Amino acid sequence: MIHVQDASNFLKIIKVGLTTLYKIIPVEPFNLVLFGGTGDLARREILPGLYRRFHVGQVQPGSKIIAIARKHLTEQEFLNFVREAITENLDSKLIEETNLVKFLSLISYRSLDANNKNNWESLKGSLDLSLTTAYYLSVGPSIFSSIISNLAHHDLIRVNSRIVVEKPFGHDLASAKELNRKLSKVFDEGQIYRIDHYLGKETVQNLMALRFGNVLFEPLWNSQYIDHIQITVAEKGGVGGRGEYYDNSGAMRDMVQNHLMQLLCLVAMEPPSKFSPDAVRDEKLKVIRSLEPLAANDIVLGQYGQGGSVPSYREDVGNNTSTTESYIALKCNISNWRWANTAFYLRTGKRLRKRVSEIAVVFKKLPHSIFLDHPQINGNVLAIRLQPNEGINMTVTIKEPGPGGMRLIEVPLDMSFAKSLHGEVGNLTNAYERLIMDVIRGNQTLFMRGDEVEAAWKWTDTVISCWQNNRKQPQIYDPNTSGPEDAYMLTNKDQRRWREIEV
Ligand code: BG6
Repeated sequence: MIHVQDASNFLKIIKVGLTTLYKIIPVEPFNLVLFGGTGDLARREILPGLYRRFHVGQVQPGSKIIAIARKHLTEQEFLNFVREAITENLDSKLIEETNLVKFLSLISYRSLDANNKNNWESLKGSLDLSLTTAYYLSVGPSIFSSIISNLAHHDLIRVNSRIVVEKPFGHDLASAKELNRKLSKVFDEGQIYRIDHYLGKETVQNLMALRFGNVLFEPLWNSQYIDHIQITVAEKGGVGGRGEYYDNSGAMRDMVQNHLMQLLCLVAMEPPSKFSPDAVRDEKLKVIRSLEPLAANDIVLGQYGQGGSVPSYREDVGNNTSTTESYIALKCNISNWRWANTAFYLRTGKRLRKRVSEIAVVFKKLPHSIFLDHPQINGNVLAIRLQPNEGINMTVTIKEPGPGGMRLIEVPLDMSFAKSLHGEVGNLTNAYERLIMDVIRGNQTLFMRGDEVEAAWKWTDTVISCWQNNRKQPQIYDPNTSGPEDAYMLTNKDQRRWREIEV
């Protein structure tokens, strides 16, 4: 136990903390075959992320990154693309020319059409399949199936092969089952990595550390002490260049079925017996299976209208009769012993006021106040912020300093990770690079298991059918607001209020 007596001692503690944080566990040389190598995700996240892991010494020389796409590019043209991807997306302090050149020497490019059989043999010839080999499907779902069959047909799968599947993992329960069936024909469940990048976010993992690494919270983590929980993933941006995909999906399929569902699972699950892939995923699955079906008045749909120079959703997706939701708010219940009658309010939307993701645990009001001037004392709120400014904030009631009697105020106990860790939190790892390293190490804890994805779709399908059967239409909301007016009613009718969407 270290007692903080003076500033120099305090610094030592921070250093001890940082040394632990910087501990890099190198991974053995591997092959990463990246389908969709010229795509947006590869450019923004995967390639820059891999460079960072190389830069800090985690990715070892001897590893190979083979990018695959349909485009005919020379090797040099592709390397220029990687260089641009890295310089555009990473802090210049991280980019060292000699290191970058070494990193580029690990990369090669192949033009290959997943739908035909040409060039697969030559791909095979370039891989040492005795190394761990990850096939990363960063492509549209329509070609998942051809890639999987070609990998099998060309004998590219070994016991140490892994397949990484990007979302969307299906469009509904039936398509998710079909994809699971195809995958399981050629891969064991232990080789399948279904990515949900929210699980790779620093604070999401911290939620598990907070709940299961502290004695303070777990005894209170139930319906007896918690009034309700709010999960918000608000985005400032619109649908960008993904209009066609988004208009066929909407916020429920694009965000709730996966990202918000995962956050809900981590906040609501029972403590797993250990931090191991199946122990964690078994508990998450139980949460999803305990979700009650929703009634129509537990669902609010919204769609952003036009505002100033900002185009409307319909203009963005090029469909002027679209009824797809760019915003959704839900009131959910988990029917188990721990959470009976505790409301979980979920909301997510595009073109909202700010980009904010947080989980807020709102504790119950005090059963009795001893302070005559304050007959009602609000419950504490524990807010776990995913982005921006990752951290944890807890409101507590204290006495307002100074004379004037016993005046109570609520103040935040703010633990911003960036501040506590000397601004390092954002520089450590991003979600994708952490998850890719887990794939190579063979750790599935932060990936979704087949049964989990199917259970999530099963519930999602019931929610979608509920609003379709009730002919619910999205309410138009102004851009840069907190979403549609009806969303306020969802909490107001329970005498509760959404937290402000603010940074
Ligand atoms: C993706 C969704 O999975 O997550 C996008 O398809 C969304 O629509 C994105 O914008 C949000 O991710 P993040 O990490 O920016 O919160």
